[in-house]
Amino acid sequence: MTYGMIATWEMAYDGLQKGLAHLKNSGTAADALEKAICAVEDEPTFQSVGYGGLPNAQGVVEMDSAYMDGNTFQLGAVAGITDVKNPIKVARKLSHEKFNSFLVGAGATAYAKEVGFTMTEMLTEKAAQAYQERLKAMAESNLSPYDGHDTVGMVSLDDTGSMVAGTSTSGLFMKRPGRVGDSPLAGSGLYVDAEVGGACATGLGEDLMKGCLSYEIVRLMKAGLTPQAACDEAVYSFDAELTKRYGKAGAFSLIAMNNTGDWGVATNVEFTFVVGNVNQEVTLYTARPDNQGGTIIQAQ
Ligand code: GLY
Repeated sequence: MTYGMIATWEMAYDGLQKGLAHLKNSGTAADALEKAICAVEDEPTFQSVGYGGLPNAQGVVEMDSAYMDGNTFQLGAVAGITDVKNPIKVARKLSHEKFNSFLVGAGATAYAKEVGFTMTEMLTEKAAQAYQERLKAMAESNLSPYDGHDTVGMVSLDDTGSMVAGTSTSGLFMKRPGRVGDSPLAGSGLYVDAEVGGACATGLGEDLMKGCLSYEIVRLMKAGLTPQAACDEAVYSFDAELTKRYGKAGAFSLIAMNNTGDWGVATNVEFTFVVGNVNQEVTLYTARPDNQGGTIIQAQ
């Protein structure tokens, strides 16, 4: 009997504690993941996910989220959704739909309202202030307007062997209205097969979606690689390929867990992530590339 969860970024620490406590009490992987991601979405000090997320170029918080069930491959996603408190709940609900399981923009928001999800203004005073300051800085210099794409991505395994994966993000700060990153895209932002394992991404969506890295990591695990070897192989070979062909690679980081609770991570920048499982309380780690095709991982 085993269970475990892994998630991107330190911001997922408290959420993962809630999720892991649920798994410890024989809760499902799905409920544990929803609880954990909602905790991140609900925290106003996190500026890249949910309430408090930084807005697009018109000052609107547009969010992307996806949920995938590794047993059935059911998949639900929303992109450019607004005014909904917990996009991950909408994505999970949509995963049960045979048709219309990926909704965007006004259609996604209307669906959330119609089904009865909690609707709220997602722009906090602090995020509105950051927006005004960025507008001012942009008017004064050639500063790139874009940053802040720290998606929460999570893989959850319960003691029945069920696995799910989920993502939630407000995407790039100052993005064009309608811009969508990797997070809601199966294969790029997330992928999970309960007979193998799951993976999730965070980083520059425009580059992540060129490599379908979450799917690639699951494929490599299925071929027999450990989660760590699969992450290293997928991330560093794609980073090199993208740099060779496209001239540069944006920042990206991937996490993975297999169906026995072993995990791995690879990244082309300094990155934090959290893991907990049957043998280990939730632990915060940092990771960075060793520049020789491997990853240096340190517990904090
Ligand atoms: N990885 C999240 C985004 O680019 O929107």
